[in-house]
Amino acid sequence: MAGVPKTFADVELIGKKVRLRPMRLDDAKLLLPLFSNPRVLENISFSGTPTLEGEIEWALAASTLPCIDHQGKMSYILAIEQIGKSAGIGTLGLHYRIDSRLLEIGYWLAVPYWGQGLVTDAARIMTTSLAFQHLDAVRVSAAIFAGNTRSKGVVEKLGFHLNGTRRSQMLVNGQWKDD
Ligand SMILES: CC(C)(COP(=O)(O)OP(=O)(O)OC[C@H]1O[C@@H](n2cnc3c(N)ncnc32)[C@H](O)[C@@H]1OP(=O)(O)O)[C@@H](O)C(=O)NCCC(=O)NCCS
Repeated sequence: MAGVPKTFADVELIGKKVRLRPMRLDDAKLLLPLFSNPRVLENISFSGTPTLEGEIEWALAASTLPCIDHQGKMSYILAIEQIGKSAGIGTLGLHYRIDSRLLEIGYWLAVPYWGQGLVTDAARIMTTSLAFQHLDAVRVSAAIFAGNTRSKGVVEKLGFHLNGTRRSQMLVNGQWKDD
């Protein structure tokens, strides 16, 4: 069914390796040490130092999303779990421009779980079921920092094509990043 759902409270997407579900408040404490790993932080557009208060606030907001901002962009964050386990080990977010039907994804995964195809599975189920079928997106994209070969590996496996490099696109912790 195409269209923008009013709420994603009951969204559950099951892939071959992972399950995507709405964020819960108890994710904050568990995800904080995993998210705080410098190998995660250096590749995402987050400035500063993650705190428990910040994570709780964020998980609370994410669990009641989607929010639709003044530009008509809807954002929603889903927790990534391995099938059969009930703990979040990362997140996958979508940002959807309702008018133009352009959708951008962003994700991170806890370091011990890297290299097992988990985010490829998560992004695949999200783009096929949610983005294209349910939301009727025209295009799905990801902004990836230059040099983030793992993340590029994920989207390449999904059939994304490189659109170009934007120089000094984002300022993160005082450093300009190309994506
Ligand atoms: C990027 C990230 C989400 C990838 O998650 P993942 O579950 O490990 O990814 P997958 O295992 O599904 O796929 C990774 C792909 O990257 C490539 N890859 C893996 N290890 C690599 C390495 N050391 N160097 C280069 N490429 C590598 C491969 O193509 C691999 O696919 P494979 O199954 O064919 O080996 C994870 O590394 C992460 O959270 N990084 C920090 C945050 C981040 O970069 N977020 C994305 C912002 S755009």
